[in-house]
Amino acid sequence: MTPANDTFLRALRREPVTHTPVWLMRQAGRYLPEYNATRAKAGSFLALAQDPELCAEVTLQPLARFPLDAAILFSDILTVPDAMGLGLSFATGEGPRFARPLHDEARVRALTVPDMGALRYVFDAVACIKRALAGRVPLIGFAGSPFTLACYMIEGSGSDDFGRVRRMAYARPDLLDRIVDINAQAVTAYLDAQVAAGADALMLFDTWGGLLTRSAYERFSLRPMRAILGALRPLHDGARVPTIVFTKGGGGWLDAIAACGASAIGLDWTVDLAAARARFGASVALQGNLDPLVLTTDPETVAREAAAIVRAAGPEPGHVFNLGHGIVPATPPANVAALVETVHNVSREILRAGRP
Ligand code: CP3
Repeated sequence: MTPANDTFLRALRREPVTHTPVWLMRQAGRYLPEYNATRAKAGSFLALAQDPELCAEVTLQPLARFPLDAAILFSDILTVPDAMGLGLSFATGEGPRFARPLHDEARVRALTVPDMGALRYVFDAVACIKRALAGRVPLIGFAGSPFTLACYMIEGSGSDDFGRVRRMAYARPDLLDRIVDINAQAVTAYLDAQVAAGADALMLFDTWGGLLTRSAYERFSLRPMRAILGALRPLHDGARVPTIVFTKGGGGWLDAIAACGASAIGLDWTVDLAAARARFGASVALQGNLDPLVLTTDPETVAREAAAIVRAAGPEPGHVFNLGHGIVPATPPANVAALVETVHNVSREILRAGRP
């Protein structure tokens, strides 16, 4: 069934639209008081993520406030390594932590693709959100990239430099190959199941690929992402379920990323959007790329910076407006309202003027 508002899917396919679709990474999150209330009711972030009904509730919260053009599954990328038995927890005020990280070779050797039954709560959440959306806007399913998952699995937590991971890339590339290949198989099955449960588009979050050298990025991040996209496509036909690949810090390698087989490439705020559109706009859609910190200023500044991005993207089909990374908790919701309104209004003007 085509959603009532399919602007987001049309833009990913580089079809004409009457306004630029907009959604925001982490649009359901701590900047919304109603999110914090639901999380308190659930008891913790993980309890929330494991309750399909509450996942549907928080997924729809930003849509009740702002006319966003897509919803994103409320979950986390680290559900997959948790299902692999690494033991995920989130301490309040800190990031994620694994009880059994891949700190030695024996653990890497023992790693296997998990039974998707262990992730059933995620697929139930997708189905629950789909019912709650009732076809208003498309639902984005997602997973972490094999390399970004490996970063947390090897390090055991977040890190400033992911030193263990980068040392492994140089000293034991065979072990890192094994981890990302198993992750790629797991992510393929995970995304297939999200589509079966109702996801309309898929996004791979490669938050840490930009830490690597060019050749290590090809081997440990882009290659396994390409493998996922290749394995998904025969099942879902890339045209029907569009895909987005977002490598934060990947701006220098856009030529390779644009050819990876995804429908769209996510850009962080360091990339010149107009130049990227001129160079790659005929072959892939582009998603981005407002600095999330802009949303912590004031509505006038937000409107000015958002309009600049809509103008930089220009009238050609294939732009999805987003931030260059996740929304930060200090964002006043009024600034998000100003952002969405500006993107819709300015893009309507530009697209009207651009039509012959
Ligand atoms: O975008 C959305 O609204 C969908 C939900 C979503 C979350 N995490 C919810 C979440 C998505 C798409 C993610 C992806 C994710 N998770 C990534 C890749 C994207 C990125 O941000 O770089 C990564 C690296 C993670 C791992 C993760 N989860 C970290 C490092 C943290 C803690 C950092 C932080 O922001 O506090 C989380 C927790 C998390 N995931 C929160 C949310 C809303 C905050 C937890 C809370 O409510 O306390």
